[in-house]
Amino acid sequence: MNKLLIANWKMQITHKEAKEWLTMHLNDIEKALTYTKNRLVICPSFTELSYTASLPVNTIAWGAQDCSPVERGAFTGDVSIISLTQLDCSYVLVGHSDRRTYYADSDERIQKKTALALKYGLLPIVCIGETTEQRDSGITWQALEKQLLSVIDLFNTMNSPSMLIAYEPVWAIGKGVIATKDEISSTCQNIQQLVREKTAASCKILYGGSVDEQTINQIPLDLLDGLLLGKASTDAQVLKKIILSC
Ligand code: PGA
Repeated sequence: MNKLLIANWKMQITHKEAKEWLTMHLNDIEKALTYTKNRLVICPSFTELSYTASLPVNTIAWGAQDCSPVERGAFTGDVSIISLTQLDCSYVLVGHSDRRTYYADSDERIQKKTALALKYGLLPIVCIGETTEQRDSGITWQALEKQLLSVIDLFNTMNSPSMLIAYEPVWAIGKGVIATKDEISSTCQNIQQLVREKTAASCKILYGGSVDEQTINQIPLDLLDGLLLGKASTDAQVLKKIILSC
C-alpha cells in the first residue's frame, strides 16, 4: 500500500517491444495499482518517451533513466532535461550504478544532473550503492555517505521536494541476491540521520537490486517507501505480482 515502484527497463526492451508491452498490459497494471494504492513510474529508453507521453494513464508516471549534466549544447548523444520535461517525464534516475560503472558518471556529474532535475521540476531518484569490494572492506557506509553528500545540499532549499534515495547495493543488482533486513535497516537509519543533520528536506528511501516476485518476501517493506525494479519490471506478470505483494 502506498509504495512507490520504479520500473527501470534499462536497455532490455526495444522500441517495438515496448509499444507492444504497453498496449497489452497497461490496463491490467493500472488496475493492480488502483487496487493496492501503489504508484508506478516506468522508465523506458529515451526513444520511447514521446510514445509514452501520448498514452492516457491515471496511476502511472513516466521517468527517464538518465539525463545530461548540462541543459543544451554540443554534447553528442546526450539528452537534455528540458526535452524530458516536454515529454511528460516527472522523474529521472541519476547515479544509477550502470552509469557510474560503464559511463564514468562521477559524483560531480551526478550532482549537476540532480541540480538540473530540481531546477526543471523533475523528481530526481538518486541511486547510491556500495560495491562488493567496499562491502568486503567494511566501508559500506563511508561509500554511501560520500555519494549522498555530493547531492544533499541541493535539497536544502525552502522549495525542495522530498529527496528520493534509491539504495541499490552494486553486488545485488542483477545477481539474484538481496541485502539482508539488517543491512537495509541500518542503511535506512544512516541515510535518514544524515538527511536530518544536513537538510530541511524529508527523505524517501527505495531499495533496489534483484527484487522479484520471490525475493520480495524477504524485503522489509515496512522500512521502505518503495522499490527500484530492474529485470523483474520488464515482465508484466511478474511486475503485477510485485505490485500486488506491496
Ligand atoms: P535488478 O536491477 O532488479 O535487475 O537487479 C535493479 C536496478 O539496477 O535498478
